[in-house]
Amino acid sequence: MYQTIIGGKEYLDMAIKLIKQGELVAFPTETVYGLGANALDKNAVNKIFIAKNRPFDNPLIVHVASVRQAEVVAFVSNEAKMLFESFSPGPLTVILPKKPNLPKEVTGDINTVGIRIPNNKMALELITKSNLPIAAPSANISQKVSPTSAKFVFEDMNGKIPLILDGGECEVGIESTVLTLESDIPTILRPGAVTVEMLTKVLPKVRSHTGEIRVAESPGMKYKHYAPSCECVMFENIYSGTKFYDEQTKNGKKAVMLITNDKVDTVGARSYVDMGKTGEEIAHNVFRILREAEKKYDCIIIEKLPPKGIYASIMNRLEKSSSGKTV
Ligand code: TXA
Ligand code: MG
Repeated sequence: MYQTIIGGKEYLDMAIKLIKQGELVAFPTETVYGLGANALDKNAVNKIFIAKNRPFDNPLIVHVASVRQAEVVAFVSNEAKMLFESFSPGPLTVILPKKPNLPKEVTGDINTVGIRIPNNKMALELITKSNLPIAAPSANISQKVSPTSAKFVFEDMNGKIPLILDGGECEVGIESTVLTLESDIPTILRPGAVTVEMLTKVLPKVRSHTGEIRVAESPGMKYKHYAPSCECVMFENIYSGTKFYDEQTKNGKKAVMLITNDKVDTVGARSYVDMGKTGEEIAHNVFRILREAEKKYDCIIIEKLPPKGIYASIMNRLEKSSSGKTV
């Protein structure tokens, strides 16, 4: 058991020391908090899987500060370089062939690795000053919602890790877009803030995740993700949503509606949370709202969002939260 410390940039030196010693450090990124370890140290990497209770065959993303550092662990094609130039640092992870010096523990023994350059000052300093590539999944316990603040990391990791670097709330709020260049056509394995619309401006062809990707394989996709601990459903129109809410409350359940800002006037006296106005706002808020709502309510009833741009990426998370159940 560790006495877990939460601290800001004054703890950066300690974080660097811990990473070099093979310990775990949680750190902020622009997407969600990561649970980091020296990617070149297999014992350190193994600790990540244990702390998260993550299946050992679910590969980790390696965080680097530059393309040159990516080349320490992966073969970086020209196409990949172009992508990093356009979108990095930022919420894009590119799947590339791994180099043999990257321990197989990082990638669950597959021959590719996800590479990301995060757009967060503290994260980049941690990487550059330790001069190490950092393997990091989201800093939640497996199957829980990804943490977007140090407080949520603490809920899941208290006692399991020595240090949580606190960089405030994550700007983007949902995990990075995962794009593989290892399929015939570049394919989005997980949608994020770098949308298919944005990628098609740089790549001649991109296969979007929509329409169920079975073709492209991501080991993580077989595991259930983002599940709040209480009942969770989605609604298509406000009438079916409020009707379901009323049925729940009649049965003695504490229910809440998660709605976009323009629906606020349509729910009457029912409990609701305003998720925000724009796609960016909703992405920023959604994981915090889910974490808070699951503690307070028995049933979460969520508005469906339009299937395009960043809304589609948020919907991907919400569909998993509700296991696709619509009322
Ligand atoms: O925004 C993010 O990506 C955050 C921050 C911390 O960077 N990280 C994150 O990591 O969300 P994680 O491990 O929670 O999700 C990574 C996803 C998993 O579904 C995993 O299966 C997939 O990416 N993945 C990782 N490496 C892969 C690979 N080589 N091939 C296919 N999928 C891969
Ligand atoms: Mg995760």
